[in-house]
Order: sequence, then structure tokens, then C-alpha cells
Amino acid sequence: MILIVWYVTELAGRRADCDVLDQFIAAVRGGASRALVVHGEAGVGKTALLDYVADYAEGCRLIRAVGVQTEMELAFATLHQLCVPLLDYLERLPGLQHEALRTVFGLSVGPPPDRFLTGLAVLSLLAEAAEHKPLLCLVDDLQWADRASAQALTFAARRLGTESVGLVLATRALSDDLAGLPELAVAGLREADARALLEAVLTVPIDTQVRDQIVAEAHGNPLALLELPRALTAAELAGGFGLPGVLHLPGNVEESFQRRVCALPAETRRLLVLAAADPAGDAALVWQGQPGGSASAPRQRSPQPRLAWSSSGSGYGSVTRWCGRWPTGRCQPRRDGRRTRHWQRPPTRG
Ligand SMILES: Nc1ncnc2c1ncn2[C@@H]1O[C@H](COP(=O)(O)OP(=O)(O)O)[C@@H](O)[C@H]1O
Ligand SMILES: [Mg+2]
Repeated sequence: MILIVWYVTELAGRRADCDVLDQFIAAVRGGASRALVVHGEAGVGKTALLDYVADYAEGCRLIRAVGVQTEMELAFATLHQLCVPLLDYLERLPGLQHEALRTVFGLSVGPPPDRFLTGLAVLSLLAEAAEHKPLLCLVDDLQWADRASAQALTFAARRLGTESVGLVLATRALSDDLAGLPELAVAGLREADARALLEAVLTVPIDTQVRDQIVAEAHGNPLALLELPRALTAAELAGGFGLPGVLHLPGNVEESFQRRVCALPAETRRLLVLAAADPAGDAALVWQGQPGGSASAPRQRSPQPRLAWSSSGSGYGSVTRWCGRWPTGRCQPRRDGRRTRHWQRPPTRG
């Protein structure tokens, strides 16, 4: 198999975001403390921006942690990961704070400490560690951090002063815990940047129409831009087989879109399912299927209770994919390794 995609190390289209991060680093290096919540959908480039901070953290001490889905139930797992390199400073904390952190990190036995005390102890620990060298703390995938860690970290983030501590928290979605903290919303790349990134990563020629379709399907999501071309052969990329039907994003990006679809009102989701079931991309027909429209047309086209779509369809390819498996569904392996999706009608109410 020919490798047609390679990875770039330069961040495309992120000058403004990097400027914010440069100022953040400069402030911490200059003796101030800062907190920043970097948020955006899966694949949009949050980790890449944290890596940028790490790369430019010269003159600072750097500690990192990442929320792990399977550790979400383990209290203080993420905090422990972040603070392990700082355990030597525990001795310098006031008695109660010292004991609180020893207990949450499993270094001594005792009743679970008060959350306020734990938060204060984390703040003190970071301040102690930053005494001789600015400290940059990068916490990725905060959406998967255990709640106790997230609370202690956001508590500390709100109370940072002049300790020379920088705390960057990256998460897919903002939660109440993060309200009021400075934010950096990471959006999709602009079209020109997306196109440039796509062209930069390909090692084979790409037809302009195929390129534009990939750019449109990716919605500026760098992960999608890197992954979508992988679903195509060099000949397909060169436009040899016309426009590709429906491209396949990797599961995690798909799931994030699926969550967004699930958050939509029921009527909107119904419309999306109708659109997904229509292989022709006939908007008028789809609208007719809405309550208030003529419901007979979609029933004529899709008389079975199970709505089905396969990757050979064109029409509403993106919509279909973004629909994910709502409301119920399963994936069946195809012989060529791609997946065919099946949707069921929503259960009838009453
Ligand atoms: N601006 C960018 N330019 C080039 N590649 C990028 C850019 N942003 C992200 N990437 C790449 O896209 C992929 C997804 O980015 P990542 O930072 O992991 O997303 P997230 O953490 O938001 O899920 C990674 O391979 C990353 O290197
Ligand atoms: Mg990430």
C-alpha cells in the first residue's frame, strides 16, 4: 500500500491562537500567573496547541497530565499524574495541606480531606514548585479527568496570583466548573488554511474537486483533513473515479459529531435522519417528509421500517455521517473493510 499522507509539524492557520499562547508564556515567564481553558471539538487541534506551549516553554519547568476515560472514577488520578514530579515540595506545605495531599495521593492513610483544603494545597504546591523557575502545567482532555481532580485544578486556577504559574486546561466542552476562567476557543481552520494543510500532507496529486470535497467535509477540522484522504486511493485522489461518495472519518471525530446531533431538538434530528435516508440529495423531498410536509414521499422511497444507507450513496453524505447512529444503529463490516451503517426509525411514542 502506498503511503499518501504524512504528518506536518508546523501548525497551519493557528497564528492568532499561537499569539495568545505566546503572551501567556511570556506573562508566566515574567513572574505573573495565568490560567487558560483551551476548548474545541475533537480533532480541532487542542493537543497540538498544548504541544506548541511545551515547545516554547524554554526557561520554564513543564509538567503535563492527560485525563484518561478509564480513570474517571478514580478520585485525584489526573491530579496525581500532574503533581507526581512535584512530590518533593510536599514537605514545604503547611501541616494540614501537607497531610491533605499526602492522603489524596495515597502516601498516608486518613479520611478524605476537605475539598477546599485540597484545592488550597494544590495551589500551594504549584507556588512552591514555581519559586525558583516559572512553572507551566498542561492538562489535556480535562473532559475525562476525574471530578475531584477537575475541581482541585479549577479551584487553583481561579486563585492564581503572582506565583509564576501557568495552568492550561484543554477540554472538548466547557463545563460549569470552568465558568469565568479565561478561554481560548479553538475553531476549525479557515478554508484556505484547510486547503493548504491538505495539500501539504499529501504526497500524491489531488484533483481540485476532490480536494474541495474533502475540505468541505472536514469543516476545518485538522484531524479530519489528515484522515479523510486516507480513505481514498491515489487514483481516487487524482480524480480518476470522479468524486468520492462518502468519506470516512475515524471513530472519535464521528462520535463528537454524534454527540452534537444528539443535542439537537427532536425535529431537527428527524430531518437529519430523513436526509440520511435519501440517497439522491433531493432537498424538496426531504422537506416533504417533515411533519406538516407531505409525509408520503419518504415513505414511498423507503418503505421498510429500517432506514438504510451505504457508503456508495452520494446525496447527503456528510449529514449521514454526522447523524451517527441515532437513534439506534449498528455498524456492519463490509467486505472491502469500510462500514455500512443502518438506522432504525425512532420508537413510536405512546
Ligand atoms: N493547525 C494544525 N496544523 C497541522 N496539523 C494540525 C493542526 N492542528 C492539529 N493538527 C493535527 O491534527 C490532529 C488532531 O489534532 P489534535 O491536537 O490531536 O486535536 P484535539 O486534541 O483537539 O483532539 C493531530 O494529528 C495534529 O497533529
Ligand atoms: Mg487532544
